[in-house]
Amino acid sequence: MNSFNFQNNNLYAESVSVSDLVRAYGSPLYVYSKTQIEFNWNLFKKSFGEHSHLICYAVKANSNIAVLNILAKLGSGFDIVSLGELERVIAAGGEPRKCVFSGVGKTEKSIQKALEYGIYCFNIESEDELDCIESVSSSLNMIAPISIRVNPNVDAQTHPYISTGLNENKFGVCPDIALSMYKKAALSENLKVCGLDYHIGSQITEVSPFLEALDRALELIEKLKSENITIKHLDIGGGVGVSYDGEKTINIEDYLNYVTARANDMKILVEPGRSIVGNAGIFVTKVEYLKQNDIKSFAIVDGAMNDLIRPSLYESFHQAVLIDDNSIGLSGEWDIVGPVCESADFLAKNRKLTLEKGDYIAILTTGAYGFVLSSNYNSRPRVSEVMVSEKTHSLVRKRETIESLFENEYLFEDETN
Ligand code: LLP
Repeated sequence: MNSFNFQNNNLYAESVSVSDLVRAYGSPLYVYSKTQIEFNWNLFKKSFGEHSHLICYAVKANSNIAVLNILAKLGSGFDIVSLGELERVIAAGGEPRKCVFSGVGKTEKSIQKALEYGIYCFNIESEDELDCIESVSSSLNMIAPISIRVNPNVDAQTHPYISTGLNENKFGVCPDIALSMYKKAALSENLKVCGLDYHIGSQITEVSPFLEALDRALELIEKLKSENITIKHLDIGGGVGVSYDGEKTINIEDYLNYVTARANDMKILVEPGRSIVGNAGIFVTKVEYLKQNDIKSFAIVDGAMNDLIRPSLYESFHQAVLIDDNSIGLSGEWDIVGPVCESADFLAKNRKLTLEKGDYIAILTTGAYGFVLSSNYNSRPRVSEVMVSEKTHSLVRKRETIESLFENEYLFEDETN
């Protein structure tokens, strides 16, 4: 299924033309499809069949509360990495008892709050963190449900910045350390061993690293069994890579069928982000100027790296299409660049397009790690976000104002003034 399609050379978000959305909400703009989000989540649900499971959407991929609310209504759980994300989930109608708390640097305050809210599980990433969680839960006279994040030392074959399952990465602990941590936790009155988790990276398009990680986790679970430590749930980390340029990726149903077949009676948790929201969003930007020299053609647009940083940060590829493809203008191989004063400020490179000033370009598959990574660099207000469902659409985040950019700043009044 694809919610963003061309009809008579016009790009549509479900049943609404993107040109109409730009007229209504301005540019630049993120547009999301509710139907696509639901479809993607239901694919995970369907793939689990009757096997006991919890889908914990990774909030970091797109944390807009309208997105979280759509998922909460489907019954989704959430993978959170900060108190801010937990509070967002609650504000959006999500349930703490379906939340797992990941991340290497949980603060004492966030641990305390998460315990009080009654989260499903802490995914622990170090021995120090285990001690901290124990001490917080003992001071509250509570029992913290825990899982230990194992780093299986598997090469996820993805961009190094989003690879997390190698010993050189800061995430998780090696199986030997996990074993001793589990033994320690099993003796604690304020910790309850529930699960084991791993997450080896993001945008993984080959299944073999996932299967290798699963093998390592199952080996450790066997070892724990012989120590009388029972693992009730296995959390297999993030979802699968998405197709940015028509490339083949992992079949979710096959992958999850394989996992559930090997899991016996363990409940399976999965923390997909990109595969739920990636293809459910586009970023729309207006061509302000065209500029050519002997070797290059630049389309200077009103969106920039501060709005969508993936191309600059990971050299990632996103398809770029005209929302109203009427083939008028200058043909060329364009670099689509923003107004930010950095040569790394590009959204796409060498794209064969026919462009004229005033055209609108949609950068596709930007629902994940798009708006959430945006900043105010160059004092640029963050853009609007809009949700579409069939024929209806509404603003789910208003465009920031110029005034809001410095409302939290103060003049420094020193004695020399
Ligand atoms: N679980 C944990 C513990 C994670 O750290 C992540 C992503 C996920 C789940 C979700 O993974 P996914 O299903 O989305 O692959 N900004 C980068 C991606 C960073 C991913 C960070 N962790 C990008 O734009 O590619």
